[in-house]
Amino acid sequence: MIKGIKGVKDILPDQIDRWLLIENSARRYARLYGFREIRLPIFEVTDLFARSIGATTDIVEKEMYTFADRDGTSLTLRPEGTAGAVRSYIEHNLGASPLPQKLFYLGPMFRHERPQAGRLRQFHQFGVELLGVAAPEADAEVLSLLWRFFHALSLPGLTLELNTLGETEDRPRYKKVLRDFLETKKSAICANCQRRLETNPLRVLDCKVPGCREATADAPSIIDHISPRAREHFEEVKAGLSAVNIPFSLNPRLVRGLDYYTSTTFEVTCTHLGAQNAVGAGGRYDGLVEVLGGGPTPAIGFAVGLERIALLLPGDLVPQPSPSLYVAGFGRDGTRAAYPLLDSLRQAGVEATCDYRSTTLKAHLRQADRLHCSHTLIIGDDEATKGMAILRNMVSKVQEEIPFSSLVNDVAARLLKV
Ligand code: HAM
Repeated sequence: MIKGIKGVKDILPDQIDRWLLIENSARRYARLYGFREIRLPIFEVTDLFARSIGATTDIVEKEMYTFADRDGTSLTLRPEGTAGAVRSYIEHNLGASPLPQKLFYLGPMFRHERPQAGRLRQFHQFGVELLGVAAPEADAEVLSLLWRFFHALSLPGLTLELNTLGETEDRPRYKKVLRDFLETKKSAICANCQRRLETNPLRVLDCKVPGCREATADAPSIIDHISPRAREHFEEVKAGLSAVNIPFSLNPRLVRGLDYYTSTTFEVTCTHLGAQNAVGAGGRYDGLVEVLGGGPTPAIGFAVGLERIALLLPGDLVPQPSPSLYVAGFGRDGTRAAYPLLDSLRQAGVEATCDYRSTTLKAHLRQADRLHCSHTLIIGDDEATKGMAILRNMVSKVQEEIPFSSLVNDVAARLLKV
């Protein structure tokens, strides 16, 4: 038997209502805040991700699904959506339309990570990108959207963690201060962090290894090494969140695993998720459009992991299946009469099904129960002769006769109004 790939999951019919609820809510909230949907390719040239996310990040170094096209071009399954959105923004000159451009997307992403609960190799994101506004109000708006979207889904135990990385020009100064500090702790940090110390010292602050956490507990804070302008921006973002009563907690160690970030960064964590506790994350990436060949364009966005939301979604929020009808036609005449009625009922909008294998009423009713149909329409030879069908409520077992002449309207009126 050929099995699915590790960390690449099927979303089975029983889970679909949960997923539709999340996706519909994502679309509704994105539109509520003025974002328009964009559908981006699943694969792009590898260089797009290497240049955007950063050559020394875990994603680019270890996690990308990269393959050679037939002409040798290196292609990669998208590990995230921001790089593609920015590529598209530049390629289609979306900056020439009135700014800001507010885009959102939903779809699969691919990262070769070690699979565990809430961490997959094919996972799904809902992401938004707001391009063209530098004002801190844009940060607050994007964060409000993120928070209100989670709130609407009643997700439990969430914290919005907030930090700033300062402006791009602040980075070399802070990197030096941090590197000098880390040199004094070199023997206490893990081998991976010893390497990061050279390549990407900020990432050491994000390491989950307890020894590294301990060794960097007193590390110099970014906030003390950023420009007054960056500090003022951050103050205004915080004020903007407070003005609309969005709670947040400051986390000076929040550096994020993608290199394009500048200024505001954030993550929404959940106490119910174990090790993979980030439900959503994002930040400003004011330099990325230029890095990819566009004009100077400030931007901010986030992405949330839909599998993690699905794990957290309270069961009672998921809608019950709508009433559905099983049509039990049996006997020669009953089967013949049932067939066009089934078609008319479906055209009238009634969710209806049947099972052509069953020949007895008992077998039909058993099947209707198995399929969790709320009602069964019984049409045997006798009913066909009389021009009447029997509508059976599968829960109360109450049955009533309905003439064929008014059947479609009558059944549709009952099932569609529930
Ligand atoms: P990210 O932090 O890499 O950011 O991913 C965002 C979210 O995607 C995470 O918080 C998590 O919920 C989910 N996620 C990531 N990896 C996995 C995985 N292997 N399995 C399941 N869920 C996962 C980004 O992707 C940025 N593009 C966000 C952004 C948009 N920044 C600005 N604009």
